[in-house]
Amino acid sequence: MNSEVKSQTLFKNLSIETERLIIRPYQLEDTQDLFNAISDPHFYDYIPESPPSIKEVEDIIRWSMDCNNKNTIEKIYKLNLGIIFKETDCFIGFCGLGPYDLNPAKIEIYYGLNKDFRGRGLATEAAKALLDFGFSNLKLDEIVTTVFPQNVPSVRVLEKIGMTKQYSITNPPKEHIDFKGMDYYSILR
Ligand SMILES: CC(C)(COP(=O)(O)OP(=O)(O)OC[C@H]1O[C@@H](n2cnc3c(N)ncnc32)[C@H](O)[C@@H]1OP(=O)(O)O)[C@@H](O)C(=O)NCCC(=O)NCCS
Repeated sequence: MNSEVKSQTLFKNLSIETERLIIRPYQLEDTQDLFNAISDPHFYDYIPESPPSIKEVEDIIRWSMDCNNKNTIEKIYKLNLGIIFKETDCFIGFCGLGPYDLNPAKIEIYYGLNKDFRGRGLATEAAKALLDFGFSNLKLDEIVTTVFPQNVPSVRVLEKIGMTKQYSITNPPKEHIDFKGMDYYSILR
């Protein structure tokens, strides 16, 4: 098997299992559950994007599946993953890896949970597993992210998975002005 075929199989059949979670690529059936998770009125308080409609969520899922068909170890277009709570087999949130907007040569990590499942360490469990997958299976040298310092739960997740703050983004380029005030975190393999 050549390396491209091997890495495409790795992405399409991806299933990361932790003590309480299964993390796997988005499926069309996730549309309503993903919409429910992110349509909480405060979900986007600290994310520089606007909340999508259900139709847009469906489009995002289709686009994510398309990206996952193209992802290889050498080039990740976007790796959007659903988080399934094993105990009840339900979709509780998302996490992923993809090019960092301010420097697409770097790979960033992101995550979000339905508010009914927060405060139990599940985001930390998912983010840690995804970081390990990125370093061990994708052989990434570094993983980065940005967070508003006011987003205390997310800052705690980053600290608990071993990421460290490098600097605050004070003067982003005009097209990424929404990143102003965010802190930039990174971790090396
Ligand atoms: C960020 C997010 C995934 C964290 O989920 P979570 O279930 O709270 O995460 P965990 O339980 O794994 O850990 C959260 C930590 O923050 C702490 N925390 C949670 N809410 C807090 C608050 N309001 N003030 C202070 N600490 C808080 C928890 O105690 C925990 O730390 P601990 O284990 O040391 O006690 C969730 O808040 C979310 O989905 N937010 C909306 C999307 C988002 O902002 N994503 C991140 C973008 S950068």
